Amino acid sequence: MSLVPIMSTAAAAALGAVLVVSAPASAATTLGAAAAQSGRYFGTAVAAGKLNDQTYVNILNTEFSMVTAENEMKWDATEPNRGQFNYSGGDRVLNQAVGNGKRVRGHALLWHQQEPGWAQRLEGSDLRQAMMNHVTQVTTHYRGKIYAWDVVNEAFADGGSGGRRDSNLQRTGNDWIEAAFRAARAADPAAKLCYNDYNTDSVNAKSTGIYNMVRDFKARGVPIDCVGFQSHLSNNAPSDYQANLQRFADLGVEVQITELDISGSNQANAYGAVTRACMAVRACTGITVWGIRDTDSWRTGENPLLFNGSGAKKAAYTAVLDALNAGGPGPTTTTTTNDPVPGGCTASVSLNQWDGGFVATVEVTAGSTALRGWRVATTLSNGTVTSSWSSNRSGTSGSVTFTNVDYNGAVPAGQSTEFGFQGTGSGSGLTPSCTAT
Ligand code: XIL
Repeated sequence: MSLVPIMSTAAAAALGAVLVVSAPASAATTLGAAAAQSGRYFGTAVAAGKLNDQTYVNILNTEFSMVTAENEMKWDATEPNRGQFNYSGGDRVLNQAVGNGKRVRGHALLWHQQEPGWAQRLEGSDLRQAMMNHVTQVTTHYRGKIYAWDVVNEAFADGGSGGRRDSNLQRTGNDWIEAAFRAARAADPAAKLCYNDYNTDSVNAKSTGIYNMVRDFKARGVPIDCVGFQSHLSNNAPSDYQANLQRFADLGVEVQITELDISGSNQANAYGAVTRACMAVRACTGITVWGIRDTDSWRTGENPLLFNGSGAKKAAYTAVLDALNAGGPGPTTTTTTNDPVPGGCTASVSLNQWDGGFVATVEVTAGSTALRGWRVATTLSNGTVTSSWSSNRSGTSGSVTFTNVDYNGAVPAGQSTEFGFQGTGSGSGLTPSCTAT
């Protein structure tokens, strides 16, 4: 079972959950304070190299409650050589934020851009191993300090296919995204794990491809908590912007606007519309703009941000502040308390049997205490295991035992991980039992 961030009021009440719905008492005067009235955050991308600029730091400290490192936590920055990690820039951004009472979004663990050169030259299983090591190392370094990680960035193709983008990451196998989410969850169970992409701001082939992936992940227990919408826009928010956010929310994930910037003469209206859309979707937990002043923007010359080059508030700023102050339903936070197995775990099997062979997928679920490791024992009376994955195995038939591997031993309370095996003969009648180790 995974934590369900969004549920009906009745269901939430039944589980003793806290339901926060607040209406602002009086207008707040900063973006962060205005967003906080409904339980949301308002963030910005921060560049470590600008933390000596007083105008920049003053606006940052006054206005924003969440920070994303603009480049400093990307793969090329954090692992410039294979196995050699450098967190200096990322730590600078994080420490400045945390020291000033802000939270941090981690961006981004795996992305086909800003891969270090050594990783660009890898393919196949060697690359897959390097990818998963990267995810594990970086999330371990920042364990407990990151509000949400963009685990995978921009993995879907533009245009009408609705499919994955070709990259060396994708060529390691279609399951690279779920493997990355599992590795991130194992290393930092407290961080929300997001998939992040652009050109996903309306119902289109690309956003629908991602929607289908998220639905599949939720159905199979792959740990995903949120979807990030970069929202690099020009002049307008698509008319179905809110409806698109809502359909993802209805899958049981949070939605976050992660890199907002909007060019063009209709900018203020468009910023207002995006903010109102987030405020209208209960599961939209916050908005991040991709930089502070127009002169800080990666979209050189387009002036797509909320402050001008001198640090003065633009009309777009007022549109956002007003929309935040107008309020909306607050996000719902739920905590399940009805766990039957404190300190233990359960295992359930799903079996794909055909004439002469089978594949078994086993879900291991932690009780009310996080697991550090697990062992699953089962009896295979009429079959023989030929291979297994995501576990260490002893035995092939009769009594067969599986234990966790490095990356899936840590399972947060109430959450699940999967392993599997295949064999010849019959897999029917499997009744696995789970022990915490
Ligand atoms: C951009 C940064 O803003 C630039 O400084 C850098 O040169 C390139 O990357 N999508 C993302 C962000 O997820 O990481 C990108 O940030 C913008 C597009």
